Amino acid sequence: MDEVSIRLRPVAEEDLVMFQRFATEPGLIGLDWTGFKDPQAPVRRFAVDGFLGAESSRLMVEVERERVAAGFVSWALRDFGGPTKHWEIGIALLPEWRGRGIGWRAQAMLCDYLFTHTPVQRIQAGTHPENIAEQKSLVKAGFALEGVVRACEFRDGRWCDGYLYSRVRDDPSPLRS
Ligand SMILES: CC(C)(COP(=O)(O)OP(=O)(O)OC[C@H]1O[C@@H](n2cnc3c(N)ncnc32)[C@H](O)[C@@H]1OP(=O)(O)O)[C@@H](O)C(=O)NCCC(=O)NCCS
Repeated sequence: MDEVSIRLRPVAEEDLVMFQRFATEPGLIGLDWTGFKDPQAPVRRFAVDGFLGAESSRLMVEVERERVAAGFVSWALRDFGGPTKHWEIGIALLPEWRGRGIGWRAQAMLCDYLFTHTPVQRIQAGTHPENIAEQKSLVKAGFALEGVVRACEFRDGRWCDGYLYSRVRDDPSPLRS
């Protein structure tokens, strides 16, 4: 299958329907489904800052040829207790766009964007032991596995482990090699 050409772009009003679907359709978002969320929350957030805030943001992953949004990437400020901050990124694609090489490239593009426009040293991402697609995507996007975070989230009726990955500023970008 040909590589699908993508770009990251700011959220537009018509994208809010997708965010509302992820908040209200059980399982659409994948393993991150943790129950119904307020479907009006994306509308309120969009009105405040268009999902481009100092502490958390989203960009849409757009398929260039079809000019349709395949999903979105997100990032939020995190710290380990001291003054130094790092980003934690996330991604969700609609099912019809998964498995076509979009996820790893969108996350690699987001890292390049964040290292270009913000001075952070570290970008991290967590995923689930059963999410093979995201584990492979993160490695393809230049991330390294740091370890298992035990019993870090409650989902689907039980406490689950997570896998923690990171890409630091000096790690090579797979998009520039
Ligand atoms: C996880 C997700 C972002 C991955 O993006 P994607 O576009 O589907 O994955 P890609 O096409 O970029 O594939 C990357 C690698 O994973 C592999 N892969 C893709 N889907 C897979 C699957 N279902 N099972 C196993 N491997 C898979 C690909 O083969 C590729 O590896 P390869 O180059 O060695 O062949 C996407 O599937 C998604 O949005 N899923 C639902 C939400 C989610 O899980 N988000 C992450 C939460 S932590």
